[in-house]
Amino acid sequence: MDFSDPSFVANPYPELKELRQAGNPVWHEGLGMFLAARYSDANTVLRTKTLGRIFTPKEPESQWSEFNWLHSDSLLDSEPPKHTRLRSLVGKAFSRSRIQALRPEVERIANNLLDEAENKLSSNGNFDLIADYAEPLPVKVIAALLGFPDRDEHLLRPWSQSIVKMYEVSPSAEAQAEAQQAAHEFAEYVRSLMQERKVHPGTDLISELAIVEEAGEKLNAQELIATCVLLLNAGHEASVNGFGNGMVATFENPEQLELLRNNPRDITDTAIEEFLRFDAPLHLFERTATADTEVSGVLVKVGQKIAALLGSANRDETVFDRADELDLGREQNPHIGFGAGIHFCLGAPLSRIEMSASLPLLLERFPKLNLYENPKRRPTFVLRGYETILVA
Ligand code: HEM
Repeated sequence: MDFSDPSFVANPYPELKELRQAGNPVWHEGLGMFLAARYSDANTVLRTKTLGRIFTPKEPESQWSEFNWLHSDSLLDSEPPKHTRLRSLVGKAFSRSRIQALRPEVERIANNLLDEAENKLSSNGNFDLIADYAEPLPVKVIAALLGFPDRDEHLLRPWSQSIVKMYEVSPSAEAQAEAQQAAHEFAEYVRSLMQERKVHPGTDLISELAIVEEAGEKLNAQELIATCVLLLNAGHEASVNGFGNGMVATFENPEQLELLRNNPRDITDTAIEEFLRFDAPLHLFERTATADTEVSGVLVKVGQKIAALLGSANRDETVFDRADELDLGREQNPHIGFGAGIHFCLGAPLSRIEMSASLPLLLERFPKLNLYENPKRRPTFVLRGYETILVA
């Protein structure tokens, strides 16, 4: 199985099905790790304490310095007790009630973007569902939540894209150089923002954390910067692709499209979960054994890696009826698109608000929306999504 092969990336699901049918986790020589493809195994990997998110620093350290600590000091790549400390510091800002209160703001942003899309539609005859809607919406929301200035919002996506390309299989030398540069610039930018907020605090999350850092007990400067960069990146990367993948799958299933067009509000809650199950925006998350650990009869020795394949787990036919069918009204949908265990997505409530606000608004504004031409996929598996989706 070659994860960088364009024909695999175009539709990985038949091969992932074979992998599930092969049974227990299997060793992948090229990746140097076990792969847990079945739902129960992927779920176990994410929930087992002795399988941790342990970041392996890249070498030479002189070139990867910021990239390394942006990961090793962030919430996502830490394990308890550091993970517990960092998650409790940012957790409150992402609680269900605080996030629910953002809905009117999310709707305002969505409506503004739809106004601009409508203008494009009248002048060009189409617009790009990714660049004009799915991407700017979560970028603007997470930037506002953290207090990242509007004038610099355009910097976020390129920095983030350069960094996340390193999560793919065999990144090129050019991609590596871009990631080093982006990590350096992003870290320096957030460092100066933090200094500014210490002097002129606002009501945003960076100001809140800068005060905690100043007190000096619960958070140091590197942890603060790493966690803010993580939030800014994680706060939009998967959301863009989750929305785009789901919409393309719907366009490709005319009876589901009809259902959505006729009942956008009634069906939104189940539709967004099905978007994330049917064509997952995030496919592979690694863990490293901190002690010998057995997963379905396979021994993962201390120091060895095992990956949970989320997109595969979400198509497991032993858990989901008609697993390969898109069913926007699906009632039983225990997908693990947001992960599981202690690293369960902190932004899940935010991303659910973003999608449940933006999906009906899009279809109400453009009830006959459809593909203008074949959408163009990104050539990546781990973060799976589209480059452009022109619609009319
Ligand atoms: C459709 C959208 C999203 C999907 C599918 C998604 C998925 C995930 C997954 C699978 C993980 C767990 C990774 C692991 O176990 O190794 C995760 C963690 C995380 N996500 Fe999301 N995410 C989404 C949106 C967001 C948003 C909007 C934010 C906003 C800040 C966010 C912030 C985070 C953070 C901070 C973590 C790390 C949590 C921890 O380590 O305790 N995510 N996400």
